[in-house]
Amino acid sequence: MKQLSIDRRIQSLFPIVLASLLVLGTAKLVLEKLKSNHSYAFQINGRARDGKHGLAVIVSPEDRIDESCNVFEGEWVWDNVSHPLYTEESCPYLVKQVTCQRNGRPDSFYKNWRWQPNGCKLPRFDPLKLLQILRGKRLMFVGDSVQRGQFESLVCMLQSVIPEGKKSLERIPPRKIFKIQEFDASIEYYWAPFIVESISDHATKHTVLKRLVKLDSISTHGKHWKGVDVLVFESYVWWKYKPTINATYGSPDDVEEYNVTTAYRLALETWANWLESSINPYTQKVFFMSMSPTHLWSWEWKPGSNENCFNESYPIQGPYWGTGSSLEIMDIVHDILEELKVNVTLLNITQLSEFRKDAHTTIYGERKGKLLTKEQRSDPKNFADCIHWCLPGVPDTWNEILYAYLLKNHQNVS
Ligand SMILES: *[C@@H]1O[C@H](CO)[C@@H](O)[C@H](O)[C@H]1NC(C)=O
Ligand SMILES: *[C@@H]1O[C@H](CO)[C@@H](O)[C@H](O)[C@H]1NC(C)=O
Ligand SMILES: *[C@@H]1O[C@H](CO)[C@@H](O)[C@H](O)[C@H]1NC(C)=O
Ligand SMILES: *[C@@H]1O[C@H](CO)[C@@H](O)[C@H](O)[C@H]1NC(C)=O
Ligand SMILES: *[C@@H]1O[C@H](CO)[C@@H](O)[C@H](O)[C@H]1NC(C)=O
Ligand SMILES: *[C@@H]1O[C@H](CO)[C@@H](O)[C@H](O)[C@H]1NC(C)=O
Repeated sequence: MKQLSIDRRIQSLFPIVLASLLVLGTAKLVLEKLKSNHSYAFQINGRARDGKHGLAVIVSPEDRIDESCNVFEGEWVWDNVSHPLYTEESCPYLVKQVTCQRNGRPDSFYKNWRWQPNGCKLPRFDPLKLLQILRGKRLMFVGDSVQRGQFESLVCMLQSVIPEGKKSLERIPPRKIFKIQEFDASIEYYWAPFIVESISDHATKHTVLKRLVKLDSISTHGKHWKGVDVLVFESYVWWKYKPTINATYGSPDDVEEYNVTTAYRLALETWANWLESSINPYTQKVFFMSMSPTHLWSWEWKPGSNENCFNESYPIQGPYWGTGSSLEIMDIVHDILEELKVNVTLLNITQLSEFRKDAHTTIYGERKGKLLTKEQRSDPKNFADCIHWCLPGVPDTWNEILYAYLLKNHQNVS
């Protein structure tokens, strides 16, 4: 009985996911033509190719998180001095979907929390340092609309230090490319909601209700990922529509309903095989983001209530893990990464994000490329989006952690 009602709720929330996807097609951005003859040579030590910016990157000892520190265990502390790292006004690259304040959200505490790991401090985010590390390189986020939020977050964290005219955002579906000319670097986003191929791969015109995943197909996507210096993968919420999902494996005509956990494992195996055959572990780095939690049912953190994440202004204190974050999926990720012959770093951000029931876009996002109407806003039970996150917000912390790992692995030039 309970399972049934939960499934209904998952279903009823999906139109919101759809709405956010359509934003891609409607965002008004200044676009430039991609210079396709650009070549990105990887420099393992971060030295500039042309010698123009040949300064050695100095990652100081205090920038490096200790090997023994688990940065994913800790607490959110109030810090309105250091956070947010940017504002809605200062970043012209945010889509309307995530600018909660501008869209009318009355409270703003959600922007002022800093993640404090138990055993160490995250290095202070320094956009120039990151740019030096990314000099001559491409960093690409691959995944769904949650991952797109992380892409936008990183662009906003960086962009303020780059003068006008020296940066550009281009849209070449299914990619978005933020270029930093001075550094010959790019931050990119690639739409692939299931990582493997599916009928939902068109970045703007894809069916949401009808899903068909090609569990053994990845090469069309893979062509675009080849040679990218830093790859950051994520895929979760699109799998969680129903307990089963239509998919093919082998013959493209042989459609079967798969148990979602089985299908997810097969998809990640396809991905793992692609990595092993296509990645150069000495020149490329691969990250995998654990699932981004949803806050669809308030009774999970507030027993007796029957709402969602709407009107939540504070993080959850103390232990909490919602049923929206599947431990079975977590185990699959764990198994696959353990068996991989190339190193993939799992950024296990699920628990820290679980606490942030206050940080979703709720009714201050978009639906079908438009802000919610007054009528829709008056019905948060049906219209609040408890999947996506406001920016600035939680995805900034995911990027602070990604930054910490990039620093940790970086070798200074001597
Ligand atoms: C920061 O938070 C403190 C403590 O809650 C508060 O007194 C102060 O006014 C806040 N400062 C700003 C700039 O919001
Ligand atoms: C799978 O496809 C069939 C035929 O289109 C459809 O009836 C069924 O509902 C689909 N199953 C799921 C889990 O979407
Ligand atoms: C799907 O797989 C999971 C784990 O293997 C199992 O617990 C669940 O019962 C399966 N569901 C169906 C509908 O077969
Ligand atoms: C992968 O990680 C292991 C353990 O941290 C390390 O010993 C090995 O050198 C790494 N391999 C590459 C190619 O970076
Ligand atoms: C939001 O929560 C506050 C208390 O935290 C309450 O006074 C208010 O009525 C709530 N608003 C809505 C629209 O539920
Ligand atoms: C991620 O962290 C959670 C606890 O926060 C843990 O239960 C889970 O096993 C971890 N996932 C992996 C793949 O290690």
